[in-house]
Amino acid sequence: MTEHVKLIWQDKTFELPVITGSEGEKAIDISKLRQMTGMITMDSGFANTGSCKSAITFMDGERGILRYRGYPIDELAEHSSFREVAYLLINGELPTRKQITRFSVLLNDHSLVHEDMRSFFGSFPRASHPMGILSSMVNALKSFYPYLEGEEEELNATVARLISKIRTLAAMSYKIFRGHTVVYPRPDLSYCENFLNMMFDTPVRPYEIDPDIVQALSVFLILHADHEQNCSTSAVRLVGSGRVNLYSAISAGIAALWGPLHGGANQAVIEMLTNIVEKDIPLKDVVLRAKDKSDPFRLMGFGHRVYKTYDPRTKIMKKMCDRILTKLNIHDPLLDVAKALEEIAVNDSYFIDHNLYPNIDFYSGIVLRAIGIPTNMFTVMFAIGRLPGWIAQWKESMDDPEWRLNRPRQIYTGPTKRAYVPIEER
Ligand code: CMC
Repeated sequence: MTEHVKLIWQDKTFELPVITGSEGEKAIDISKLRQMTGMITMDSGFANTGSCKSAITFMDGERGILRYRGYPIDELAEHSSFREVAYLLINGELPTRKQITRFSVLLNDHSLVHEDMRSFFGSFPRASHPMGILSSMVNALKSFYPYLEGEEEELNATVARLISKIRTLAAMSYKIFRGHTVVYPRPDLSYCENFLNMMFDTPVRPYEIDPDIVQALSVFLILHADHEQNCSTSAVRLVGSGRVNLYSAISAGIAALWGPLHGGANQAVIEMLTNIVEKDIPLKDVVLRAKDKSDPFRLMGFGHRVYKTYDPRTKIMKKMCDRILTKLNIHDPLLDVAKALEEIAVNDSYFIDHNLYPNIDFYSGIVLRAIGIPTNMFTVMFAIGRLPGWIAQWKESMDDPEWRLNRPRQIYTGPTKRAYVPIEER
């Protein structure tokens, strides 16, 4: 029997159905609210609004739980590969040996980027941010690889193209930016190995693939692969709801991810930590500034809309920092500062009262630095990781018979009707 909640307004009572998810989460279905009452709901930042039903990712922000298709994030990070997680998110189940082989063949077949696209890179001003370039290039893929709407095989090819080419485009942009020869993908290398090789191999210094670095990158990408209805994923779903092509919906997601409150936080954290180290700023002053409401400064890499406890991804990322820095024999002063800053913040009453804990971005940049990724490419790395999630969410929305054009409403607060005033009378 469907549960209902009662809404009492003036002398009327309205009954609204309750929707229950597979993990017991509940939502009030207000889809008939305006029809019944003439009113809409207001929810700034959508903090209390469910935009869809989804079977992809489960998050419990109070208990610090994250699962992809039911599998806990720590188990996936320990036992799986990014390629397998991408398959899981998009197709709903872990692949069999045959399915993963087929997927790998597709990724390999679609790993090259049209040579004409290379000329685009040269046209961007040198100082362009790689996220702006990536968003443009992914949108441009539509012109180079138009796909047939609705054909399953073609959709599979488009998905493989995106996952494979985004990595090639990212490495290519780095090489062109540095003025180095572009390195092409190799069929004998895995997804992460290929990316590292395309980034760091040079004709004079062949890149030696280190399995520990490959694993660190794979874990980084797995941890970023999906996070249910976050800002960029919602952008992909919203833009996609207009029935635009997949490339353009993903391009919108990349643009949304760029902001420092979202994916751009990984770059902002490293810039903040570097500033602290270079200027030798006392950590207690940093925390004081973050608490000062008259100062727009926030502790970057802290806080999350959903997690009101420790972000489960951060635990894994923090351990990865220690493991990879030890393995590479690197002493990064930014890690010392990050750990000390965390210690002060998590014991401070402001952070405790506001449920502010380090999020994934607090430690992820330190892993990326150790691997050799330049700071301005950190958010590009997040985008490569998030791509399977965006695709899975877009696909789910396209297959959902209830999915409609996304079009929120508003409460108008501007001037009421007034007569036009000719320019000479103003
Ligand atoms: N430093 C200091 N105060 C903070 C911080 C912070 N990092 N984050 C939130 N607060 C305070 C905020 O000032 C507000 O205080 P009050 O209620 O007293 O006015 C309260 O906590 C709630 O903040 P909010 O902005 O309403 O919370 P939100 O859920 O809208 O924002 C957030 C979430 C992630 C945008 C925010 O915590 C933030 O700006 N963090 C820093 C940027 C960052 O690390 N972003 C990465 C997020 S994780 C990666 C991803 O999934 O995108």
